[in-house]
Amino acid sequence: MSILSGKEIVLGITGCIAAYKSVELVRQLVKHGAQVHVVMTKNACEFITPLTFQTLSGNPVTIELFNLYEEKEIGHIALAQRADIFVIAPATANSIGKVAHGIADDMLSTVVMATRAPVLFAPAMNANMWENPIVQNNIESLKGRGYHFIEPDRGDLACGVQGQGRLAETEDVLDVIMTILSPNDFNQKKVIVTAGPTRELLDPVRFLSNPSSGKMGFAIARALQQRGAYVTLISGPTALAQPRNIAYVPVQSAREMAEAVNRHFDETEIVVMSAAVADYRPKEAAAHKIKKADAALTLEFERTSDILESLSAQKANRILVGFAAETQDMLAHAQEKLHRKKLDLIVANDVSRDDAGFGTDTNAVTLIFADGATEELPTMSKAELAHKLLDRIATLTGSS
Ligand code: PMT
Repeated sequence: MSILSGKEIVLGITGCIAAYKSVELVRQLVKHGAQVHVVMTKNACEFITPLTFQTLSGNPVTIELFNLYEEKEIGHIALAQRADIFVIAPATANSIGKVAHGIADDMLSTVVMATRAPVLFAPAMNANMWENPIVQNNIESLKGRGYHFIEPDRGDLACGVQGQGRLAETEDVLDVIMTILSPNDFNQKKVIVTAGPTRELLDPVRFLSNPSSGKMGFAIARALQQRGAYVTLISGPTALAQPRNIAYVPVQSAREMAEAVNRHFDETEIVVMSAAVADYRPKEAAAHKIKKADAALTLEFERTSDILESLSAQKANRILVGFAAETQDMLAHAQEKLHRKKLDLIVANDVSRDDAGFGTDTNAVTLIFADGATEELPTMSKAELAHKLLDRIATLTGSS
């Protein structure tokens, strides 16, 4: 179940071209099980219709301050009290300025003023406006009063210039919402997560690898960050965007991954190895591209070092979590790895299924604990599985 499930979210939309991006935000919030109540400024309605948000959220959209029907059915005070979080995305310089100076002259600014829920601003504006000291002062003043902000991205802006001012990506806004609403049960815990495949070079243009997309490991890193942990994400090559606010260490080979894990291990309390690390590498990588010849090519491989197994010798009271990607006798193989690598928990992953394993958005796994207990989990999104896994790790660390 998502952190957002059953949460009441008031989404304020102000007058900005980025208002169309809030459509996807509403879709995602609803998908996570949240109740979304949209409040639009009149200017926002110039960019996108309330009907779009009403249809997607399944709730009436509020615009007018003095609408007798809305006041009876919802009421701005009720909306303010009911919210678990108030998100303003996109937030214009004008809306930020109004809240910073206590101006409540429309429905949106009035509800923000009346709420005791956490408020998150996701600003979007022209780069010069963003850099304007008046806007920055307003933001600092609001931050000082406990309001949350997610900075806009850099890039091409609708006004034709380049710079900082693009509304943050939906996935990043969702991450921050979840962070604010999360139980914070990994508060300041230092965690290493590994993700993705490794590449073992045969020559400068060819390598031995596997289809890991990094989705599982990235989902775990994001979930940990949302729950208050300091995460170091060590990842092989993937097509995924680097998550915000997570220390990211890109690596290529199993050797580089081992070095990166060892560099961070001393200060780490929990290690989650979801990376698909190569067990073998070519004994020698050719310095130049191997030329084709008529004869068959024979390559010799040598073992890579087992990162998890080597960590178990220095484990102390750290929690070590491994994954086992299997195509047959899943439980037996996973149990053998759990004992050999002295793990606290192993996630047995049947990668022969269509809805699980490499590259999929969902996963279906069985958790096996050091005391022999097992827990079979149904198919769920990798983000949901990440949180479920963290619930179990929190029990092991005694922080739940
Ligand atoms: O990235 P995705 O597309 O989302 O796919 C997710 C996944 C299928 C890669 C993931 O869910 C998964 O199963 N990861 C483990 C893959 C794997 O390498 O399993 P293994 O059974 O070969 O290794 C067992 C454990 O030892 C793993 O935790 C692995 O990280 C670790 N290992 C393996 C080899 C090695 N040299 N050093 C290690 O530490």
